Amino acid sequence: MEEATTNIFHLAVVIFFYASLLSLRTSAAGVASDTLSNGRNITDGDTLVSAGGSFTLGFFSPGLPSRRYLGIWFSVSGVDSVCWVANRDSPLNDSTGVLVIDGKGGLLLLDGSGLVAWSSNTTGSFSSAAAQLLDSGNLVVRNQSGGGGGIIWQSFDHPSNTLIAGMRLGRNLRTGAEWSLTSWRAPDDPATGDCRLVMDTKGLPDCVTWCGTAKKYRTGPWNGLWFSGIPEMSNPTMFPSQVVVKPDEIAYVFNATNGVFSRRVLSDDGVIERLVWITTTKVWTPYSWGRRDDCDDYNKCGAFGFCNMNAASTPFCSCIDGFKREAIGGCRRNSPLECSGNGSTTDTFTAVRGVKLPDTDNATVDMSATLEQCRTRCSANCSCVAYAAADIRGGGGGSGCVMWTGEIVDVRYVDKGQDLYVRLAKSELALLVARYYPIHQIPSSAPPPVRDAGGHSGGSHGRGA
Ligand SMILES: *[C@@H]1O[C@H](CO)[C@@H](O)[C@H](O)[C@H]1NC(C)=O
Ligand SMILES: *[C@@H]1O[C@H](CO)[C@@H](O)[C@H](O)[C@H]1NC(C)=O
Ligand SMILES: *[C@@H]1O[C@H](CO)[C@@H](O)[C@H](O)[C@H]1NC(C)=O
Ligand SMILES: *[C@@H]1O[C@H](CO)[C@@H](O)[C@H](O)[C@H]1NC(C)=O
Ligand SMILES: *[C@@H]1O[C@H](CO)[C@@H](O)[C@H](O)[C@H]1NC(C)=O
Ligand SMILES: *[C@@H]1O[C@H](CO)[C@@H](O)[C@H](O)[C@H]1NC(C)=O
Ligand SMILES: *[C@@H]1O[C@H](CO)[C@@H](O)[C@H](O)[C@H]1NC(C)=O
Ligand SMILES: *[C@@H]1O[C@H](CO)[C@@H](O)[C@H](O)[C@H]1NC(C)=O
Repeated sequence: MEEATTNIFHLAVVIFFYASLLSLRTSAAGVASDTLSNGRNITDGDTLVSAGGSFTLGFFSPGLPSRRYLGIWFSVSGVDSVCWVANRDSPLNDSTGVLVIDGKGGLLLLDGSGLVAWSSNTTGSFSSAAAQLLDSGNLVVRNQSGGGGGIIWQSFDHPSNTLIAGMRLGRNLRTGAEWSLTSWRAPDDPATGDCRLVMDTKGLPDCVTWCGTAKKYRTGPWNGLWFSGIPEMSNPTMFPSQVVVKPDEIAYVFNATNGVFSRRVLSDDGVIERLVWITTTKVWTPYSWGRRDDCDDYNKCGAFGFCNMNAASTPFCSCIDGFKREAIGGCRRNSPLECSGNGSTTDTFTAVRGVKLPDTDNATVDMSATLEQCRTRCSANCSCVAYAAADIRGGGGGSGCVMWTGEIVDVRYVDKGQDLYVRLAKSELALLVARYYPIHQIPSSAPPPVRDAGGHSGGSHGRGA
């Protein structure tokens, strides 16, 4: 999700310095409570402020003043930086709204006549419960009875259009609940919009933007260190990120670094943008965004196509070696494969260097295999059209195994990208060797022919390190 990066790394140093001053200043000024307990309420005009002062909960109107919402925002920049909205689809019509906590541990937003505009839908009976706005921006409701303290409900489990440090994007495998972002309908209208950012947990974990039923963009699969389509994430100093894979959850989460405020916002037109608060200038500065260029448009070049922003001409599409472009988009194999049902084959593989791996939605993943085992398995299965390493952490060619059947889509050249091995008929390989190693120049121990971004042979740049 980090995409084209503005060069603000140098500002990080400045931020680290001011972050400590900031926390001193806000905690000194912090008089508002961070807790809503049984029998208390928050009316329009009141706020909760987290203990360190970072976040504020209150009522706001992003557009028409007659539409009131309950939300949480960064205190430094006020309601221009709302990161969570409770009643996004049921605005209050006036400023008579009130937030209460009921005897069951539920949060209720009531209008002037006492009707429920929004509810946290908590079930169960908690004789004593309290809601607290934590300094992470998470509003948590805890069971207070008998010295309990267990979390009954938390806003981080119900994201709006914004991901902040500590929030999850992914899936709770135990409950089936999904942590995903949903865009606002318009910049001044928090109503549920058309676009969503979800983590695709089939195949390798991959963050995907959908608008309506159209898949718009993917970050590329998690390679153990970063999402393979986002080389900027390979620099871990700014926002250390991880994909948590546990029996009960798969989720992407990033950490706050020394109090630097950042947020990822899914815009109403489906672009995910990371903004960073620059303390000196007091502005939210765009840091990265996804999609960042034409090659990030999902499946831009069709099946077996290859997108390269360095290509000489638009639309930046070509085909994987051994394939040729079809009139209606996508690419077709030049020569049929030779593979019989019993797995005997003369087929071979060509390496496509430095790419965002294809969509792994329908791919088979085995994290425990070696790359060599992966090649053998793919070769022995006539329906396997390509394979790649699933994890680059060990260095070398990587480990683990992803195998694709059918078609591969959404392959692009990317900095620090991975190597993808695509099945080709033996006759194609001979042609590639002739193309890349003119006959009189073939070294006696020629490496297998490869193609990299520039379309020239033997390049070694762009390998996932
Ligand atoms: C909110 O609290 C005030 C003051 O304690 C009280 O008068 C009012 O009835 C409460 N409102 C609701 C809806 O609970
Ligand atoms: C706001 O007004 C509209 C139209 O009068 C009504 O349908 C809606 O229920 C009201 N919303 C609330 C929360 O009272
Ligand atoms: C609470 O439940 C109602 C009825 O099932 C549903 O319409 C509403 O979206 C739920 N609210 C939340 C915050 O999940
Ligand atoms: C609340 O916490 C107390 C103390 O741990 C526990 O005995 C009680 O069962 C909890 N209530 C619910 C409804 O889970
Ligand atoms: C983020 O912070 C948590 C808690 O401090 C820590 O366990 C985790 O390793 C951190 N993740 C990264 C990627 O630094
Ligand atoms: C696999 O099938 C091919 C063609 O039908 C045949 O020539 C070959 O002997 C078979 N190999 C094995 C191991 O059965
Ligand atoms: C995966 O399979 C489903 C069902 O056949 C298909 O609709 C979808 O397009 C496939 N996805 C990819 C990336 O090939
Ligand atoms: C070939 O791979 C496909 C997809 O992973 C799998 O469904 C099929 O069982 C495999 N065939 C053999 C013979 O292993």
